[in-house]
Amino acid sequence: MNENLFIPTHVGIIVDGNGRWAQERGLSRSKGHKAGFYRLKEVCIYAKELGIKYLSLYVFSTENFKREKKEVDYLMNLFVKLYEEEFQELMDNGIKVIFSGRREPLPKKVLDAMDKITEESKNNSEAVVNFCLNYGGQTEMLDMTKKIVQQVIDGNLSVDDITLDVLQDNLYQKIPPLDYVIRTSGELRLSNFMLYQASYAEFYFPKTYFPDFTKNDFYDAIVEFNRRNRRFGGNAS
Ligand code: FPP
Repeated sequence: MNENLFIPTHVGIIVDGNGRWAQERGLSRSKGHKAGFYRLKEVCIYAKELGIKYLSLYVFSTENFKREKKEVDYLMNLFVKLYEEEFQELMDNGIKVIFSGRREPLPKKVLDAMDKITEESKNNSEAVVNFCLNYGGQTEMLDMTKKIVQQVIDGNLSVDDITLDVLQDNLYQKIPPLDYVIRTSGELRLSNFMLYQASYAEFYFPKTYFPDFTKNDFYDAIVEFNRRNRRFGGNAS
């Protein structure tokens, strides 16, 4: 590993290409999700080893509920399996797991697994993995707006005191903005992922399908990040 690499604080990954990975092998979409599931755990641990403090993973959007029931049910069972079979390894690595998204209409078994994961990992401090599950960026902003309006109505906040800090504080999670967004599979879209948090992020779109996204690919992505010249709206250095 190159010791001189600058490691971004917060990396987001838009998990994409599980279906095409499976299709190219003549397998069912479920098999693609299963392969993605195991890759996901490897990615979480590798991110921690690289020194990435926050990793946000877009694993299920609010729009994904429009998929066939069979596929949605399979994914819901994978989220439960995360707790039952893979979570311990994240615990052993000192990873704190949090979730972003709406709870409605997730099934109770998924909510229970999410609650247990959140509770049991809350004191871990090596790194934070934020699963964006039943997540939508526009919905997050809508929910943020409602929370702020309610504070104003309740008399706890005046309109003049609404600052960018107040907006940030009312997002789903109090975590730093995204430095880097990786979307696997070659699609060039943000697809409603962390719209507010991605304001100044760099973007990277490897063609690799997520089940094939190895540690080496992740490392290459960080090398590419180191080539970027981030200016945050200022002058070129
Ligand atoms: C996108 O690929 C992937 C998803 C919608 C699901 C991602 C989920 C996992 C990797 C497993 C989740 C597990 C846990 C525990 C968080 P796609 O199906 O849209 O692929 P395609 O664009 O090739 O069809």
